[in-house]
Amino acid sequence: MEQEFASPVADSDDSRGRRTIFAVVGDVHGRWEELAGELDRVREFLPAGQRIEAILQVGDAEPTRDAVELEEVFAKPERHRLSDFRLVVDRDIKFGAPLYFIGGNHEPWATLDRNGGVGSGGEPIAPGVYFLGRAGSITIAGIHIAFLSGIARADGMLGNAAERRELNSIKENNYYCADELRAVRALESVDILLTHEWPTGSGFVHKTSLVGDERVRELLTLLKPCASFHGHYHRADQFCIDGVPVYARGRYGQGVPEWVALFEFDHQTRTITQLQHLDPVSPSSRARDARGTESACRSSA
Ligand SMILES: [Fe+2]
Repeated sequence: MEQEFASPVADSDDSRGRRTIFAVVGDVHGRWEELAGELDRVREFLPAGQRIEAILQVGDAEPTRDAVELEEVFAKPERHRLSDFRLVVDRDIKFGAPLYFIGGNHEPWATLDRNGGVGSGGEPIAPGVYFLGRAGSITIAGIHIAFLSGIARADGMLGNAAERRELNSIKENNYYCADELRAVRALESVDILLTHEWPTGSGFVHKTSLVGDERVRELLTLLKPCASFHGHYHRADQFCIDGVPVYARGRYGQGVPEWVALFEFDHQTRTITQLQHLDPVSPSSRARDARGTESACRSSA
């Protein structure tokens, strides 16, 4: 499940002074043209001479190309909506950097499972757009990324993908299973963890319950990544779990920085910092430090 993409893992000499800027995108739900526009907008906040090397997306991407794939997506009838991903396939929408996404609980799962993800040899699902897979790790631009697609199954976790397939249910496809969780738990030297669901411990109440998945929290404790990124609740937030900065992202329609935000990875210190997103022409931001935002954990450490 491990594959190197974009550039080799940096050794200690190469890592000195090396920084990688990447974008993180919350739930897309099929609004790909809107995403391209927000990525153009977020580039206005890049430090001079720098570029986005990769775009990471945290699930509920909904890259449906036609009515058949739309039928594979679990969604309430009023939310069932064909995406504009066909325009990405036809190169009419471009993102300016490779985009890597995990799956959430609203995806054309039959199509994505046939692809298998880049870590299992899956082809790009459109030019420059890669499904990472159900679970595993990948190295992108020298950053080691662990990922787990899907959300927790309320009625007990299934053992493996074969059991999930046998249920032949669009809804069941949304849930990760035990062997996928186990594969992520076994990883080492992880810089970033991507999951759709938040870890427990945020204190955020959705409807009438505190949100989060205890197993995602256990992954943070076990893997100790430099940072983790999540989607699902359509809400941007930052908090700290067991010393790990946790960044939850918002959804389409929320723009920069809630939905689309820039981060910088320092290869030498293995730290991740969110870039500021201030209007470059406003007087208050002229003297800004482009690398100025506080780590999610700094204030609570
Ligand atoms: Fe969503």
